Amino acid sequence: MDKDPIRIFNISYSDKDKTRIHELVDRVIDEAFLTNHTLCRELEEKVNSLQKSLYSIATSSATTGLEAVFRTINVRNKAVIVQANTFIATAHAIQAAGGIIVPLDLSKEYVASYNDLLRAYAKCNELDIEVAAICVVNISGRASEKIFKIKEFSEEHNIVLVEDNAQGFLSSINNKFLGTIGNYSVTSFQTTKVVACGEGGIINCDNEERQVNIRNNIFFGKSKSIPRLFDYESGNFKLSEMNAALAIADLERCKDRIKRRQEINAFYKENVKSKFIKFLPSPKGNISSNYKTLFVANDPLITKGIEMLFKEKRIAMTGSVYREPISVQPRVIESRKYLARELTNTAKFCNCHFAPPNYPELKDEEISRIVDTLNKFVS
Ligand SMILES: Cc1ncc(COP(=O)(O)O)c(C=O)c1O
Repeated sequence: MDKDPIRIFNISYSDKDKTRIHELVDRVIDEAFLTNHTLCRELEEKVNSLQKSLYSIATSSATTGLEAVFRTINVRNKAVIVQANTFIATAHAIQAAGGIIVPLDLSKEYVASYNDLLRAYAKCNELDIEVAAICVVNISGRASEKIFKIKEFSEEHNIVLVEDNAQGFLSSINNKFLGTIGNYSVTSFQTTKVVACGEGGIINCDNEERQVNIRNNIFFGKSKSIPRLFDYESGNFKLSEMNAALAIADLERCKDRIKRRQEINAFYKENVKSKFIKFLPSPKGNISSNYKTLFVANDPLITKGIEMLFKEKRIAMTGSVYREPISVQPRVIESRKYLARELTNTAKFCNCHFAPPNYPELKDEEISRIVDTLNKFVS
């Protein structure tokens, strides 16, 4: 039998971390409000100060945050042009808000394609479908080097720009944090993310009016002006104070943890040597917090082979992101509110990429073992 298994993630808390969590949890119990209260507000302030934003709102997950955003924009029966290599959560949020999913292809760097955005927009115009939103997805903290052009395009055409930043917290491009470029963004604090509290997330908006609307829409579509009335169709997307406590404690240690992820990423980049697989760097100007490390193989069969070898060697594949794009998901393509499009680079990325483990708890010898396994397979 091979050495000990390398786990898919292995979150751990030091005694100091635990003391801090206990302190915060005591506050939750003493205040006895339990949801959407002081700690949620503190969490929002801390996020604002870290990512240099002004209008953050705590929410129960990135999925619910995205749903609140698409409901607030009101995408019902309008198109949302959305990067197709994303988790079903993004599609779910658009569908729940009644939007039409128009999938967007990747560029050759495997980030949201500006050229394909022009094609998708033209197609919507041709079919007379109003475009309400563009949704880019910062997979593994990677952003399109054309994100500022995408923003200009959205402004020119009066379309709302949403960043699904579930995977990109504290990543940046040209010194601006991802999640602060679009009109709205959503970050995830789910267990495996760079900041984790089990289930939780942050919505960020670019102005106060949007923030007020989101606050009402995470509370069943509460009326802005008339107490006890509810104007919009929405749900309960508020964050529990217990989860806010965990998120605050994780935010306080996240800089060191992100640094460790970046070191691991750099180690993979330097030490995996092969002509069959390529380390996927971030686009120019983009610094990732490295939720994942990404490689792309020349051929899907190589990716399959590596996955099988990792299984045999008891190395958990952190997970591909994602093997099946939303453009092949039955609940999306079988819906009436879907516009099928050709997505060549998305298909290539989804079939050929893989993500070896990258999380702060990994030990140096475990990373070396993963690198050796890869080098033996592909040399
Ligand atoms: C790109 C993307 N969007 C949305 C989500 C949903 O996040 P949550 O689990 O916080 O709802 C995820 C979760 O992994 C994700 O990767």
